[in-house]
Amino acid sequence: MSKTKGFFIVLEGPDKCGKSTQAALLTRALINAKCKAIHTREPGGASVAFAEKIRELVLDPDNIVHPLSELFLYEAARVQHVEELIRPAIEQGAIVVCERYTLATLVYQGHARGLDPALVKRLNAIATNGLKPHLTLLLDIPETQFKLRDPGRNLDRLEQETSKFRKRVRDGYRLAAKSEPHIELIDGTGPKFSVHRQIISQVAKLTRIDVTPVPLEPNLIKSS
Ligand SMILES: Nc1ncnc2c1ncn2[C@@H]1O[C@H](COP(=O)(O)OP(=O)(O)O)[C@@H](O)[C@H]1O
Ligand SMILES: [Mg+2]
Repeated sequence: MSKTKGFFIVLEGPDKCGKSTQAALLTRALINAKCKAIHTREPGGASVAFAEKIRELVLDPDNIVHPLSELFLYEAARVQHVEELIRPAIEQGAIVVCERYTLATLVYQGHARGLDPALVKRLNAIATNGLKPHLTLLLDIPETQFKLRDPGRNLDRLEQETSKFRKRVRDGYRLAAKSEPHIELIDGTGPKFSVHRQIISQVAKLTRIDVTPVPLEPNLIKSS
């Protein structure tokens, strides 16, 4: 087993808030700092085959999915993700950078879909067997940003939801950030590099690793 301590860092926020962009930058910065860093995401998970199959099912816009069935699918995928990838990686001293986790389920299936938050929390606890992030970074953007960002992108089933639904998602995240001290709220509307620097600073504070921001690649600079 590695001598370094593992960490679990989660990036959260509404669709198109910049999770994938920032998770990729953070992972690269950690690797540059000689850390073993793994970039993964929910639903699904890097090389977690069964969870990825559930991802395809749950995000396919052609499927009609009952909210409770949707909740179970997210949790089923999470069990696989936690047990096959996240927990072993942390135990081996890796830093796991994950897009979305239990907070997303509380916000989307609880706050936005209207399922009982107590039920969602209970299932979150069961699916993760109590594994919590060391740090959750919430990238906050107003609902109006959704249509402006990446307008050509093919939207998945959740991204095809109404603007009212997206507003409930944003409000749910902001509400959670107020009550949960482990959630760090970051203004996701700033330039990409500025968001990246804020994330690096939070991660350096947590891990005590000297992490340096990485420069944006040309294709990232264009839209920032
Ligand atoms: N800080 C930012 N300012 C402007 N556009 C951004 C910013 N961060 C990301 N984007 C752009 O918004 C779109 C969605 O970003 P992405 O990282 O895919 O978000 P998510 O993974 O949260 O859905 C992409 O086109 C990306 O280049
Ligand atoms: Mg993404």
